[in-house]
Amino acid sequence: MSGAPRTDAARHVIVAESLTKEFRVAERKPGLLGSLATLFTREHRIVRAVDGVSFAIPAGAKTAYIGANGAGKSTTIKMLTGIMTPTSGRCLVAGIEPYRKRQLNARSIGVVFGQRSQLWWDLSVPDSFRILRRIYDIPEPVYRRNLALYRELLDIDALGTTPVRQLSLGQRMRAEIAASLLHDPAVVFWDEPTIGLDMVLKEAVRVLVNRANHELGTTVVLTSHDIGDIAAICDSALVVDRGRVVHQGSIHDLLRTADRRCVTFDHRDPLPARAALDLIERGLPGVRASEDGGGRIRVDYPAGLFTSRQVLAFLLERFDLTDCYAPEPDLEDVLRRIYGRGDKAQEQAEAEGTARALSGGSGVR
Ligand SMILES: Nc1ncnc2c1ncn2[C@@H]1O[C@H](COP(=O)(O)OP(=O)(O)OP(=O)(O)O)[C@@H](O)[C@H]1O
Ligand SMILES: [Mg+2]
Repeated sequence: MSGAPRTDAARHVIVAESLTKEFRVAERKPGLLGSLATLFTREHRIVRAVDGVSFAIPAGAKTAYIGANGAGKSTTIKMLTGIMTPTSGRCLVAGIEPYRKRQLNARSIGVVFGQRSQLWWDLSVPDSFRILRRIYDIPEPVYRRNLALYRELLDIDALGTTPVRQLSLGQRMRAEIAASLLHDPAVVFWDEPTIGLDMVLKEAVRVLVNRANHELGTTVVLTSHDIGDIAAICDSALVVDRGRVVHQGSIHDLLRTADRRCVTFDHRDPLPARAALDLIERGLPGVRASEDGGGRIRVDYPAGLFTSRQVLAFLLERFDLTDCYAPEPDLEDVLRRIYGRGDKAQEQAEAEGTARALSGGSGVR
């Protein structure tokens, strides 16, 4: 997905055009002496962290920015928030290039970097909020409404007057999240916002951001390695791999790229479980049938080998079905494949299943 996207400035609140960021890093030499030599070396290499990325995000979208470690997510967000200037290409957020007009940009965005604080280290949370209120010129009713929400959902009062540097990671993240939304920004960039949060707080954060999106139309860009966050918050996904965009579309579209599908069913045939599993694996070479508890059977199959319609037609013909369920593909599986790691064990098991079935049965294709 390279080249400049066709964009509609009114509709797309975030636009990246061939956005590229390179870092110049000193070439490391091995060993302790090598480390010392690195300090004086003139040898450098270029790391292209973001490699000609183009995308356009419509206002009000909730986009997951997904990629393996080192894929370039944080670097992209740093450019979108004005912290870093691109090596080439450009980006626009709410119509301005963020790194050119940092202060103006700050008014329309809210930022959380899980890895580093946006708050004043030596101030308490209430003092930080009072300063933010003045910086952003937040109207009294907005400030009150938001504080009441953070009290209810993030238990923000419990943080007391402790300086930020003395807060636990989870306590600090609650304050960071609240601070990022305090001025009702048009766009929030959240880079791993839920690290250190327990399940109850994770849920509260999801409620909070979904509410801002629903009531105020806030655009959300989220990076997270927590699939639960992505599923609960985002409706679209931008997937990056080694600095390049490899998928942009709805989460639903992303799931449709899954190479493995599954269906589970109950039946009322007087057949021993093993015989039922063999019947399926012989009839559909390449699928894996297993018991799913309580007499239910699970059929896993590679999407490229059979369509759901073929699998279902086969089951309906051979079994007296009483219930049938085809769950959505697993986002984690999809991402694992996109990141290029693959699930070798699973692939091998499937290959073995195919060989076993081919040696003993006939297919429906
Ligand atoms: N300031 C920097 N100087 C040199 N290299 C950098 C710098 N910041 C990032 N990089 C390199 O750029 C690449 C992308 O880093 P980035 O932090 O954007 O990845 P990420 O997708 O956010 O990863 P993670 O999921 O681990 O947070 C990595 O190879 C990283 O080492
Ligand atoms: Mg990162």
